[in-house]
Amino acid sequence: MRIAITGSKGQLGTALQARLAAEELLPLDLPELDVTDAADVRRTLDAFRPDVVIHAAALTNVDQCELEPELAYRVNALGSQNVALACQRLGATMLYVSTDYVFDGSKGAPYVEYDPPAPLSIYARSKLAGEWATQTFAPRFYIVRTAWLYARGGRNFVETVLRLARERGSLSMVTDEAGSPTYAPDLAQAIARLLPTEQYGIYHFTNAGIASRFDWACEILRLAGLRHVPVTPSQGYKRPAPVPRLVELRNLCGESLGIVLRPWQEALRDYFEAAP
Ligand SMILES: NC(=O)c1ccc[n+]([C@@H]2O[C@H](COP(=O)([O-])OP(=O)(O)OC[C@H]3O[C@@H](n4cnc5c(N)ncnc54)[C@H](OP(=O)(O)O)[C@@H]3O)[C@@H](O)[C@H]2O)c1
Repeated sequence: MRIAITGSKGQLGTALQARLAAEELLPLDLPELDVTDAADVRRTLDAFRPDVVIHAAALTNVDQCELEPELAYRVNALGSQNVALACQRLGATMLYVSTDYVFDGSKGAPYVEYDPPAPLSIYARSKLAGEWATQTFAPRFYIVRTAWLYARGGRNFVETVLRLARERGSLSMVTDEAGSPTYAPDLAQAIARLLPTEQYGIYHFTNAGIASRFDWACEILRLAGLRHVPVTPSQGYKRPAPVPRLVELRNLCGESLGIVLRPWQEALRDYFEAAP
């Protein structure tokens, strides 16, 4: 398969390149390709003629999106529309990577793929607009919603906890924000298994189980050998973007194909065992 990957320098993009190394890949990211530039997206993809475009590029800083809404919509919505339109012209399959934040967390039970979205933040709205563009323009599509991604070398919660533990010697972490920490290499593996199925549609791929930020930080410190660093439970962390208090994504559709991700604690152990 000829596969173009946007956001190729990011956490998921990097993991996808490792996982799909046997395929013919075109990695795309800033500054070489800006997905907001429709002409450049068209030229680049036309030249490669991909069978599949995995669109992982996004403005992923949720607070920045809240403060710069136009930029968020330009990158996450319009950028996705540009990719979807290029797929339409080329007859290519599109795989769009979306987020658990399209839900507001008020359901009180895990969200299945068919639950109606209710985004709280600009980031979430702009990512949902990317889903709409994908569904509207791509001739065949997968939408893969995921959550709380981390990988070696990325900008993520695991790296932040380790840095704060070193710098401050103690931490305060909220118990009232919960989700499913997801190891990018596990998500890349699930996507690699999904692509050849041709079972197009919406998927919920996260590592299994949920954790609060407090639970996750405690497990990170334990596995990093920093159990002595005290973590104080807190509530109501103030930040520019509103985020859901608890979203668990139920992987109903992936499960029917036998694509199931392992529990988040096992994946986190692998993260610490992987060579830095
Ligand atoms: N991270 C999470 O916790 C999380 C949770 C749920 C869903 N997701 C979704 O999963 C996908 C992958 O996330 P990730 O954690 O791998 O993200 P990431 O590490 O932030 O990587 C995103 C990549 O996209 C690039 N990018 C930003 N604007 C671009 C533009 N205009 N044109 C081309 N490339 C651009 C970024 O470049 P710069 O670094 O130079 O900006 C970065 O290399 C995203 O679609 C994200 O919305 C992420």
